[in-house]
Amino acid sequence: MAKAAARFVCQSCGAVTSKWSGRCEACGEWNSVAEEAPLSQGPSGKTLGQSRGRTLPLSDLSAKEAPPPRTACRIDELDRVLGGGLVPASAVLVGGDPGIGKSTLLLQGAAAFARAGLKVVYISGEEASAQVRLRAQRLGLQDAPVQLATETNLRNILTTLDEHRPDLAIVDSIQTMWADNVDSAPGSVSQVRASAHELTTFAKRTGSSVVMVGHVTKDGQIAGPRVVEHMVDTVLYFEGERGHQFRILRSVKNRFGPADEIGVFEMTGGGLAEVTNPSALFLSERGEPSPGSVVFAGIEGTRPVLVEFQALVAPTPHSQPRRSVVGWDGSRLAMILAVLESRCGIPFSGLDVYLNVAGGLRVSEPAADLAVAAALLSAREDVSLPPETVVFGEISLSGALRPVSQSENRLKEAQKLGFSTAILPKGGKPGSAGDMKLSLMGDLTTFVGDVFGAG
Ligand code: TYD
Ligand code: MG
Repeated sequence: MAKAAARFVCQSCGAVTSKWSGRCEACGEWNSVAEEAPLSQGPSGKTLGQSRGRTLPLSDLSAKEAPPPRTACRIDELDRVLGGGLVPASAVLVGGDPGIGKSTLLLQGAAAFARAGLKVVYISGEEASAQVRLRAQRLGLQDAPVQLATETNLRNILTTLDEHRPDLAIVDSIQTMWADNVDSAPGSVSQVRASAHELTTFAKRTGSSVVMVGHVTKDGQIAGPRVVEHMVDTVLYFEGERGHQFRILRSVKNRFGPADEIGVFEMTGGGLAEVTNPSALFLSERGEPSPGSVVFAGIEGTRPVLVEFQALVAPTPHSQPRRSVVGWDGSRLAMILAVLESRCGIPFSGLDVYLNVAGGLRVSEPAADLAVAAALLSAREDVSLPPETVVFGEISLSGALRPVSQSENRLKEAQKLGFSTAILPKGGKPGSAGDMKLSLMGDLTTFVGDVFGAG
């Protein structure tokens, strides 16, 4: 792009010239001309004038419009994360680490939507058709009416889609797409952005839904799906630890449904299987109650989910103790350690702290604070919590416990899974807790005293 021309303005009369001079030619003042940053008007003579464009029809907010008809694919975990099925003309981005199972999920999704009556096209830029077919056979999906193509040239893809007008087009992956009007390599940010823009525009223009796959690296960079998040309607992340068989599909943005909804899957030899009762699954590996293990009654999206927090606290051989977290926020852990130290007088200096959420789930709720504190204390004191106990509540910097939302749902789920006691903040709305025993705590010091018998 050409550099914007320098602009010299007379400070006394305001005349603009393209050159500096000692005397303003307009008003004759000496030494008044100074350089100013050019105004950003865009290319001169190309601003949008009044007379251009067409007038848009405006309508009231009260105008009646039927809600978009959704199609459910009957993979419940997928439908729920989409907000109750696929909305026509929507653009969906599915992000995730390489090898986590995105192609598997979308192939299964494609087959399910095709069987639900949609016209589905699956475009792979990564694998040859034969590979996709082989996978479909392995998953027992070879009979599903899905149309397959292998291509990376976006122009060809759009031409094909325009001709076939599918209800759902899946593009795997956005990093392999190549728009020939953009002068950079596939996978670069400008290519990814251009391709995502073209595909999103196609969805809006024709009413087809487009699902794009995007790879994210561990630090969420390079691959660049982050730059397309604001373009699309729905952003789903497919998460999970590679070593675990559990996979979590999480909606981080959804214009047509609740964000932060999760769908839980299990990677099996025959593809992804739905997990309809995630709490039972996340707790399935829990043995006898042991020090450092605490069950947290959480809410993921619209669903209650019980997970186990595990903590290990050990004397450090280093001058700088380690703080290591998997599945939770590291800075939140630092905050809880600080509150325990300054409000309850329980020091963690000289101790390594490890915190882990069992099963590979990522918890982001502040409601897990109390469960984390309980796990840390339990590990530090080497005392297990009473068996069949769930914990939840938010901790404030003053050491007070704050009630959290949906206490009743959390308690119901805990009861359903056979828990008999709950530790939660005072002042919430536990509703009818049935025959569950509730320990209501006002602040962290009371909690420490009551549960661990120490001040
Ligand atoms: P894939 O969907 O190719 O990942 P992505 O598209 O996100 O890169 O999945 C790759 C992994 O999934 C691979 O390591 C093998 C595993 N897998 C199974 O365990 N079972 C299966 O039935 C399939 C198809 C894949
Ligand atoms: Mg893939």
